[in-house]
Amino acid sequence: MLEKLTAVPADPILGIIAAHAADTNPLKIDLGIGVYKDESGNTPILRSVKKAERILANRETTKTYLGPPGVPGFNSAITRLIYGDESSALREDRVRTIQTPGGTGALRVGADLINATRPGCKIWVSDPTWANHIPVFEAAGLDIQVYPYFDKESSSLRFDDMMMALEQPGPGDVVLFHACCHNPCGVSPEPEQWQAISDLATVRGFTPMVDMAYQGFERGLDEDALSVRLFAEKCPEVIVASSCSKNFAVYRERTGALSVVCTSTRNADDVVTVINSLTRQNYSMPPTHGPATVDIILHSEELSALWRQEVSDMRDRINGLRSKLVEKIAAAGIEKDFSFLERQSGMFSFMGLSVEQVRRLREEYSIYTVDSARVNIASFNAKNIDYFVEALKDVLEGA
Ligand SMILES: Cc1ncc(COP(=O)(O)O)c(C=O)c1O
Repeated sequence: MLEKLTAVPADPILGIIAAHAADTNPLKIDLGIGVYKDESGNTPILRSVKKAERILANRETTKTYLGPPGVPGFNSAITRLIYGDESSALREDRVRTIQTPGGTGALRVGADLINATRPGCKIWVSDPTWANHIPVFEAAGLDIQVYPYFDKESSSLRFDDMMMALEQPGPGDVVLFHACCHNPCGVSPEPEQWQAISDLATVRGFTPMVDMAYQGFERGLDEDALSVRLFAEKCPEVIVASSCSKNFAVYRERTGALSVVCTSTRNADDVVTVINSLTRQNYSMPPTHGPATVDIILHSEELSALWRQEVSDMRDRINGLRSKLVEKIAAAGIEKDFSFLERQSGMFSFMGLSVEQVRRLREEYSIYTVDSARVNIASFNAKNIDYFVEALKDVLEGA
């Protein structure tokens, strides 16, 4: 049976990680990997997380199964983090949040939920979108539609084109949005544009689904949830896939949540039973360590304050690097305008390089990134940024 299978191509990012690891050039840079890095190039464990893990290790008395919904304290704390304290949907008890294995788990369970209620449902995704969205949604049986989003020429949002395209989906269709720090292009709607998008959702009647994988990395924890909060106020139903991988830096602990806003308490209770049965068929029980750690942090005033500071430090470092990069590129006399990097946010941006230029960066300078020239801004630091700018100048000017 299995001998009929042939190899599928590896994820390009994994190829880049392997090639970078094997490269002996001491100046090598990995710009492809999708994790936050500090000034020394590490992806550190947050101090708030370390402290909470110690508390957890002392407190934990059993490793027996969790129930399908996961750690209850995690679910309630994440719900507040997503919707804030003022949410009428929360007040009306129309929201349910279920712990999932990472944001990807939330996207997959969410897609299974959509397919359970409406098999083959159309889901509209931005062009471009995170590389895993389409495979996850297709695997769940959804029908992928695409709306324009990123303008390569101006490196900015195609807002009017997007709004025009979103006149097409209607009741029974789902539209996926990135809450902030769009992966891969780094471009987000402005607050007033979110107002217009959420108004359009109410007029057209489609169901918004929001992928919130970087809450706190763009403007702030509350600011970055603006889209979800607007949708939750205006639309009868909303689906949210939230991840703690980046903002708690617990990538490998697979910590995320699927949250749904429903039309009534009774419907919300019914929907939870469907979600629980979908997860039971899939992975049966969720993991504990990451969510229990996040639960401890978000229920401790001291650890919460420390964590909020750590999120803000990560955000400030990325934004600082964006400014520094723009400054250094201009100072190097590179003609091409890269000022868009400062207007974008989060870890990712497209550098607007050709595949040939990406190849030259890799082969001549040991600077690794994917063919689309999406770079992880957090990979830069004081030791490598000048080397990168020099290499960029060379490949752009054909030296
Ligand atoms: C846009 C987006 N959504 C979801 C995820 C999934 O995150 P997780 O590692 O929590 O599954 C990522 C991770 O890179 C992402 O960039």
